[in-house]
Amino acid sequence: MKGLFALREQGRDQEMLGRVVEVPVSNYTDADILDRELAGVFRDYPLVAGHVSNVAEPGSYLLSDWNRIPYVVTRDRQGRLRAFLNQCRHRGARLVKGDEKQLKAFVCPFHNWVYDLDGSLRSISRQEDFPGIDPDQYGLKELPVTEAGGLIWVHPDPAGNLDLRAYLGRMLDDLVEFEVDQLVRYRKTKVVKNANWKLLIKTYLEGYHVPYLHRSTLSKAFRKGVLSYFEDGPHIRMCAARSNIEEALTTEPDSWRILEYASVYYVLFPNTFFIMHPDYVSINIFWPEAPDRTIWTHEMMYRAADFPGEEGQAALAKRFAFTNDVVFGGEDFAVAEDVQENLRYGANEVHTLGLAEGLLAIFQQSIDDRLR
Ligand code: FES
Ligand SMILES: [Fe+2]
Repeated sequence: MKGLFALREQGRDQEMLGRVVEVPVSNYTDADILDRELAGVFRDYPLVAGHVSNVAEPGSYLLSDWNRIPYVVTRDRQGRLRAFLNQCRHRGARLVKGDEKQLKAFVCPFHNWVYDLDGSLRSISRQEDFPGIDPDQYGLKELPVTEAGGLIWVHPDPAGNLDLRAYLGRMLDDLVEFEVDQLVRYRKTKVVKNANWKLLIKTYLEGYHVPYLHRSTLSKAFRKGVLSYFEDGPHIRMCAARSNIEEALTTEPDSWRILEYASVYYVLFPNTFFIMHPDYVSINIFWPEAPDRTIWTHEMMYRAADFPGEEGQAALAKRFAFTNDVVFGGEDFAVAEDVQENLRYGANEVHTLGLAEGLLAIFQQSIDDRLR
């Protein structure tokens, strides 16, 4: 809030890089670049698996939305969070498909090997056909998993470090302070978008487009793209002033509650875009399938007390339809898909980013620095 008012005093809309930057469009089309991102960005850092409420009790589970890292997260009988590769140790069949309401054990559909929720191999069908096999050597392959800030985090590297305090820095304080762990899920969607994963995330990283692309939807709610931002490591927090922000000036700064006057957005590096709307939360995650194809999941969360009864559900349905279908799907990502398609025979070798688009360059740089 203070950042937003400071900008106004300086007569600026946004604090950004202060120079024009060019980003080569090969970033969005080149299969080699995607391979280098998969090696350098998607293997070395904790990734968000979803909201903690998905795995509240033993046997409840959360499946990976991306087959490149096919994990299943669950709680074992002791209530301990566990992540395993969703692969049988016999001949690698997928163990959990997602139809099960609750898991009692992992039962392989292929030849019926059974594993406990803690991953240990409990039984081999026709055991006599496997003389000399030591079941201890055939437990499910485990990945590091933890909860922090109301989110489940999985490390794609079995030897990876899951110190979320160190990784998220001040971003974690925000998630804790906003009590993200107390939220409940309204709905989750998963769709494929025909655009590069970074192009999709970048649609969120500037307010420049809001008065134009969102002319008849968001633009009235926001103050002409007034935006402040803060970085901690590769993570970014952005605050976008809503049209009522000046009302805050009539009250004491100590009493300001930011979500009454601004929306707050986070890039949780690399592929999560987390949004605090005034009275609900969107967890968007982007999983690259190909340079021009991305799985997008959107989990919408809310505080149960804010949306009671049937009326509450109806209000949530409205918000979801507006945000997910009209704004994200119909405006932001529709234009990203257009841009991607145009790259096939394009007018631009580079995308030229203006002063208000500096966060796109900052995000791109965080990725470029980590390519392998
Ligand atoms: S692959 Fe799972 S039991 Fe054979
Ligand atoms: Fe937008």
